[in-house]
Amino acid sequence: MKTAKRLDGIGEYYFSQKLREIEELNKQGKQIINLGIGSPDLPPHPEVIRTLQEEAAKPNTHAYQSYKGSPVLRKAFADWYHNWYGVELSAETEILPLIGSKEGIMHICMTYLDKKDEVLVPNPGYPTYRSAVKLAGGKCVEYELKEKNNYAPDFSKLEKKDLSRVKLMFVNYPQMPTGQLPTKELFEKLVAFGKKHDILIIHDNPYSFILNEDPVSLLSVDGAKEIVIELNSLSKSHNMAGWRVGVLCGAKERVEEVLRFKSNMDSGMFLPLQLAAAKALTLGKEWQDEVNAIYRERREKVFELLETLECIYSKEQAGMFVWARIPSAYKTGFELSDKVLYEANVFITPGGIFGTAGDKYIRVSLCAPVSRFEESLQRIKSLKV
Ligand SMILES: Cc1ncc(COP(=O)(O)O)c(C=O)c1O
Repeated sequence: MKTAKRLDGIGEYYFSQKLREIEELNKQGKQIINLGIGSPDLPPHPEVIRTLQEEAAKPNTHAYQSYKGSPVLRKAFADWYHNWYGVELSAETEILPLIGSKEGIMHICMTYLDKKDEVLVPNPGYPTYRSAVKLAGGKCVEYELKEKNNYAPDFSKLEKKDLSRVKLMFVNYPQMPTGQLPTKELFEKLVAFGKKHDILIIHDNPYSFILNEDPVSLLSVDGAKEIVIELNSLSKSHNMAGWRVGVLCGAKERVEEVLRFKSNMDSGMFLPLQLAAAKALTLGKEWQDEVNAIYRERREKVFELLETLECIYSKEQAGMFVWARIPSAYKTGFELSDKVLYEANVFITPGGIFGTAGDKYIRVSLCAPVSRFEESLQRIKSLKV
């Protein structure tokens, strides 16, 4: 069957393709260690699971739910933003729970983009920004994030572009894949840039609690609500990636606009899941500290692994990955990744899948037990000999 034109140039998601290849290699007995994808391997807090079980056992929790999400979950998100980010949001009008923040990216593109509308997307950046823009009929205009600029957009370069057709700009700090943390100055510049050019800034913020003691929301900048939508997620912060719980935060008008599209796409989320997510949002710093202690220990092993591969990296990264520059012996991260996959049976993500500016990098996920990193290290050491 001929697929719609909107799918032209949209390939299968890289990881879905690669996981198939890894499965094939495993069938041949290779026992690949996958250090590629950022899917937390740890469980959510036991209280969260208990809430889901108890609520699911009740007879009256199985109906369709409100398109706007349960008031309990919206209130929990509002309190969470107040407590952790110091941002005031109305639970009634400024919060829209999502079935994962990935769907929010698509909903935003479908809500705001007409043909020929342009969107600033980071290079390197989360590949979904690019595909969602294209699927919605918009045009991606990449802005490069360079290591020497601490992976901040080059605003003077952006100002020289014709921005008249640009409607949205995707930004994401702590940045994936580079692990770069934001600064107050960068966030203020982003809001000012959006206001000056009437560009809606979409801040995607799923990593602010991972290996970071100072979670910041772009909505904490004065006047940001006028021009910013922020996406957040429980996938990484609460080990709930498979649960699919995210949130869109922004001005009442933005929430209503996106809801016009979204309410035609799904029919709400399972209530027990929303109530368990609300429970997760009440967890205190002990929870984050516990999760981060585990990631910190793993990260030390990843640093060792990267040193064995003679990669260069910063220790000041946040999020559940380590981003590293490859040694000059390799042309691209793809070349190094393939060598490590085929010769050491360890999969590491090539940075080039996040955009051309990632070509000289690789990204290692922290989502595996320490023993897997130790085993990877042994395999990679023997590869070097
Ligand atoms: C930068 C970024 N944004 C969004 C997502 C999607 O998260 P969710 O599980 O909430 O859909 C991911 C997932 O890997 C991500 O890395």
